Amino acid sequence: MPMKQVEWKYGLGCRMVKQAFVVFLLFGVAVGQIRYSIPEEMRKGSLVGNIAQDLGLDPTRMKKGGARIVSDESGDFIELNLDKGTLVVKDRIDREQLCGQTSPCSLSFELILLNPMQLHSVIVEILDVNDNSPAFKANEIQLEILESALPGTRILQESATDADVGVNALQGYTLTPTGIFNIKTQTSLSGGKYVEVFLNAALDREKEDTLILTLTALDGGNPQKSGSMKITILVLDTNDNVPVFTQSMYKAEVVENAVRGTSVTTVSASDADEGSYGLVSYHFPHLFDEKDEPFTIDEHTGVITVAGDIDYEKNRNYELTIQAKDQGGHMDSTKVIIDVIDVNDNEPVITLTSFSSPVSEDSPSGTTVAIINVKDLDSGINGKVDCSINKNIPFSIQSSLKNYYTLLTDGHLDREKNSEYNITFTAVDKGEPHLASNKTINIKVSDVNDNAPVFAQSSYSASIKENNPAGMSFFSVSARDDDWNQNARISYFLIDSEFNGNPISSYISVNADSGVLHAVRAFDYEQTKSFKVHIKAQDGGSPPLASNTTLQIAVLDENDNAPQVLYPVQTSSSMVAEIVPRSADIGYLVTKVVAVDVDSGQNAWLSYKLQKAADRPLFEVGAQNGEIRTVRQVTDKDAVKQKLTVIVEDNGQPSRSATVTVNVAVADSFPEVLSEFTEFTHDKDYNNNLTFFLLLALIVVSILFIFSVIAIISVKIYRWRQRKLFYKSANNLPVIPYYPTMYSDGTLHHTYNYEMCGTTDSRMTDVKPMRPYSQSTLVSLSRPGTVQRQQKQQQAADADDISPEVRFEYFKY
Ligand SMILES: *[C@@H]1O[C@H](CO)[C@@H](O)[C@H](O)[C@H]1NC(C)=O
Ligand SMILES: *[C@@H]1O[C@H](CO)[C@@H](O)[C@H](O)[C@H]1NC(C)=O
Repeated sequence: MPMKQVEWKYGLGCRMVKQAFVVFLLFGVAVGQIRYSIPEEMRKGSLVGNIAQDLGLDPTRMKKGGARIVSDESGDFIELNLDKGTLVVKDRIDREQLCGQTSPCSLSFELILLNPMQLHSVIVEILDVNDNSPAFKANEIQLEILESALPGTRILQESATDADVGVNALQGYTLTPTGIFNIKTQTSLSGGKYVEVFLNAALDREKEDTLILTLTALDGGNPQKSGSMKITILVLDTNDNVPVFTQSMYKAEVVENAVRGTSVTTVSASDADEGSYGLVSYHFPHLFDEKDEPFTIDEHTGVITVAGDIDYEKNRNYELTIQAKDQGGHMDSTKVIIDVIDVNDNEPVITLTSFSSPVSEDSPSGTTVAIINVKDLDSGINGKVDCSINKNIPFSIQSSLKNYYTLLTDGHLDREKNSEYNITFTAVDKGEPHLASNKTINIKVSDVNDNAPVFAQSSYSASIKENNPAGMSFFSVSARDDDWNQNARISYFLIDSEFNGNPISSYISVNADSGVLHAVRAFDYEQTKSFKVHIKAQDGGSPPLASNTTLQIAVLDENDNAPQVLYPVQTSSSMVAEIVPRSADIGYLVTKVVAVDVDSGQNAWLSYKLQKAADRPLFEVGAQNGEIRTVRQVTDKDAVKQKLTVIVEDNGQPSRSATVTVNVAVADSFPEVLSEFTEFTHDKDYNNNLTFFLLLALIVVSILFIFSVIAIISVKIYRWRQRKLFYKSANNLPVIPYYPTMYSDGTLHHTYNYEMCGTTDSRMTDVKPMRPYSQSTLVSLSRPGTVQRQQKQQQAADADDISPEVRFEYFKY
């Protein structure tokens, strides 16, 4: 049976195709089938198809025929417009509701006409319209993924649904952004399309800890519809980051002697990880070494603090290694260089490098005495040191090398003034505040024999009593030597000279050590009154130095000589008599007893007195001058012949005396005297005696002369030989120089000289001061308290001094 297919076109929104199939039945009853296609969701009343026309029926026919739609359900959606003979949409047609995923989807019903009865089958196919979007089950999901997940890891399988069918159904998926993640669209066994989200690249939580993806499902409709899902991906941390110090090396400074707890610097490391993986702690790498370093580090804060003694002089810098660790075991390390800043905490130290003491006093200026080393452990200006020594000493210092100073003599040294010096070195550094130290050395000055012995006096005077025992010490000289020890050890010597033709050493000796003088022999004042010796003091230096002094020795008188009466001359048969006229007045000078005493001074100070004076003495002797004078008028009772005994006494202790007898004739005429005196003059005896004495004197004089000549010759020969001997032996003698000196008279002190002269008239005597007399009294100053003024009375009793007149008088008788 032929089937007529009619196509209609509907303008509904976009292009539509209407198909009408007319099926003609070859039976009694006209049977036709007609087919229409309409899109779903057409408005109510929209034309589905002009069925009357398509069936070739007159619309009135249809009215008359009572055309109606027979259907169980389709009638709800399509109705017949009898007036126009068309099919229109009665209600909203949702294909998805009607058919679901079944495709094609159609409504089928019958159109029945009566009179004649006609039955037409109508199928209205509902065409899909893209009115549904693909949709996911959830709009948003959250996923967690470890950052360490490997690329390729599938994190999600998801599918979207689209109620539409066909081309309008789900076609595929897209993901934005791609890169880290990507998708793969898969078709399930049931033909549905699902999507797999997988990791495409490595994750880094530290870069992005949250990723937001949009997964979009697309259908194939036109316009295309889509549905999307937001995927929030939280990247979970793994300990994939090591701690990292902010600096690969830290530099810091710390002053030395900083107290414990002083913060030095802070190190810091960061770990990009989070949580415990990002928690950094700081350590010294070697725990056991930690106590060696004077630093500690706070485990949590990384603050390095001082924990021990910082001494610049021990360590100028420290290099610490510090580790930072996270809890996951990753670590980093860094270096901390800590420079120690010097503080002026060290005093300069003075060390005596070399030292020569004693230093000789004759060292020239500039002689090196000591070398010192001055060290200051500090550095820079704190270690710069100035060195000085105390002032006002003949020393100076010079810096020879760095840190070395030389102590030099600077000027003339004199051990006798300063035998030692305390030299204090003072070293001061330039730090702030200054630190100083000092050191004292004691330098001794050694002696050089530069001082000669010096006698306390340039000349000495000494005295010695005559008749001294030989070997007696009577004086001592002493010299001083400012040098030291051997250079000051003084020996005393006599300088050789002669006195009275004898070497001086036969008179005096000197103790070489003590300077005590001894008399070698007994002296006799009456022979030797004074003499000089030269004494030399010589020190023990090499070469020795010497000086000399003069000692004037005075021999002191002792009363060892009795007075000697010179006049009247005493003879056994003296005829001498003084004549006193009877008319003589009181005070008539009869005569004068003249006596001398070879001693001197008091010992020669003579006094006269009469012995055995009669009851009424006629005469008196002048106690001082020995003048015999009458003390009364001569009377007749007085004997012509008078014999006076005069005692002459010296003033010595004990005193010595002599007596002299003076014959006095008291008469007016010479014959009277003669007659008187013949009694006691014996001419024969006298003449015999005189002859005898004259002869004796002649013989004695002759013998004396011969002896003198012999003695002089002997002495001359002896001396000549002695001198020869001395010069011969002088070469072998040790060097004890005795130099022969000329004897010369020294200056005499306070000399008073008197000369007593007898005058020609012999009635008066004068005592008058005269010119200084050579044989004078020596006053010794060396014996204080014994300064005595001795008066030398030169008696006018020498034979020459007696007036020739007196003698004549004598011989007259
Ligand atoms: C040097 O010092 C010593 C010891 O302190 C002291 O006995 C001496 O008198 C001093 N000498 C001088 C010359 O100052
Ligand atoms: C004694 O010393 C003086 C200088 O003090 C000197 O001139 C003289 O020659 C010396 N005499 C002797 C004998 O040494």
